[in-house]
Amino acid sequence: MRSLNVLQKKKAEQRKIIALTAYDFHTADWLSECPLDFILVGDSVANVIAGHSSTLPVTMEEMLYHTRMTVRGARDIPVIADMPFLSYEIDPLEAVRNAGRFIKDAGAAAVKVEGGSQIIPAVRKMIAAHIPVLGHVGLTPQSILQFGGYIVQGKTAESAEKIKAEALALQEAGVFGIVLECIPRSLAASITGLLAIPTIGIGAGPDCDGQILVIHDLLGWDPHPKKFVKPYAAFRADAQAAVQAFAADVSAGRFPDDDHSF
Ligand code: KIV
Repeated sequence: MRSLNVLQKKKAEQRKIIALTAYDFHTADWLSECPLDFILVGDSVANVIAGHSSTLPVTMEEMLYHTRMTVRGARDIPVIADMPFLSYEIDPLEAVRNAGRFIKDAGAAAVKVEGGSQIIPAVRKMIAAHIPVLGHVGLTPQSILQFGGYIVQGKTAESAEKIKAEALALQEAGVFGIVLECIPRSLAASITGLLAIPTIGIGAGPDCDGQILVIHDLLGWDPHPKKFVKPYAAFRADAQAAVQAFAADVSAGRFPDDDHSF
């Protein structure tokens, strides 16, 4: 497996870090032939695959299941597993046990956690147990009940200072990088300049050290893409056209033809 150390090297060399989410073997398999630095098994699996309206319901067992499948397809691309809501906040020792399952049982190269000062003891314990940790600040979806919805964070001076302080505290605790989600471009640029470790943006503008997107958003599965998403394909429309063509062929007796029969 390739090393996640390349992230730090890329920041030093001012080369962009490229990452995407995946949740299954098949997607990770074809992504393994693409120029990615890592694949994230995001807890966005709750929204994208399971159809929940937030990431809160996804369980440890479900995250482990999706991480195992993804690791099998990813080959030498490192896979980072998202720790689900309440798997690391309650007790630092429980955080180490749960993170350890992603590494030992599922083959992940690292785990990702959301939040700042309140999770620092858990982050320190995991790192002391030799588990690499990626941080995540800004619009952290596991906090939407407190935020009151999916609202861009860091727009006031007070909120911006809080996010900066969280990023610095995470760096000090030893995380190897930080995801910045849905914060103003200028704040992301300022945090990226402040930190020695790399930042990976999603909805945080172009000045981060790298970018990550949800694979389904990139491929154009979402009929209503969010502002920060640029669909690079039109899979939803293409898949529906394929199904319509199949239905038309079957209805007209054109499929299966002699070429597709024994
Ligand atoms: O769960 C997820 O997909 C994420 C990315 C948005 C970074 O955390």
